[in-house]
Amino acid sequence: MTAEEREPAQYDVIGERYADFKRNHGRSPEEPTVRALLGDLAGARVLDLACGFGHYTRLAKRLGAARAEGVDVSAEMVALARQEEERDPVGAVYHRHDAAELPVLGVFDAAVAVWLLNYAEDPGRMADMFRGIRANLAAGGRLVAVTVHPGYDPDDPDRQPLRARITAARPVPRGTALVLEFPVEPPVALAFTRWDADVYEQAAREAGFTTLTWHPVSYPEPEPEPEQDPPGWDDPFVVALVCT
Ligand SMILES: C[S@@+](CC[C@H](N)C(=O)[O-])C[C@H]1O[C@@H](n2cnc3c(N)ncnc32)[C@H](O)[C@@H]1O
Repeated sequence: MTAEEREPAQYDVIGERYADFKRNHGRSPEEPTVRALLGDLAGARVLDLACGFGHYTRLAKRLGAARAEGVDVSAEMVALARQEEERDPVGAVYHRHDAAELPVLGVFDAAVAVWLLNYAEDPGRMADMFRGIRANLAAGGRLVAVTVHPGYDPDDPDRQPLRARITAARPVPRGTALVLEFPVEPPVALAFTRWDADVYEQAAREAGFTTLTWHPVSYPEPEPEPEQDPPGWDDPFVVALVCT
């Protein structure tokens, strides 16, 4: 079954409200960490997986990437990304694919996957995602991903997500199925999984990546608002990983 034939992706239903929430409240708090881990993008070919409305695809272009292509499973999110491109052209190109069934779209120096891997439905689909990403990378290319921290504990009040809350947590083999709610009216709820670290590590190794390193997602700059974002704070719900 292709992405087009499946039932609507969860973001098809909430796309515009999610985009509004991000524009108005969410910013992209992980952005400084992602930028630091990506390094210099001048002249690079960048593939942005789970691109949503194209935040990182557009950023790559603005940072000097020669090519930036975004992929998302949600037709609604791809449409929003293309609208952004029409409104303010930067030369980003978008495709609709399930990242677990990713064709070879070209040869890329870097892949970004901010909030993709937590949507893998099971470890097999995680392995499919890593294989597809690896197949699109040049030798020596790197993947920078942001996902749910493998150490996240729904019962620990000190490890809760910023500006959102977990409303359901159910153990599954090698992870915890979670539902996260964004505080908008009506609330936007998203379902995804906290996977154990070895689910990522095994999938990366099997796909041919030789290194995988974990990095905290920290907020180095003080934010004037909201005041509860302390500078230098490592987010206990979120983690970044780099695979080469
Ligand atoms: C939280 S949004 C993140 C968007 C973007 N990376 C950002 O940080 O602004 C997650 C995105 O992942 C997409 N997504 C979820 N599962 C996917 C899959 N299997 N393949 C491709 N995209 C997927 C959703 O449609 C949604 O647009």
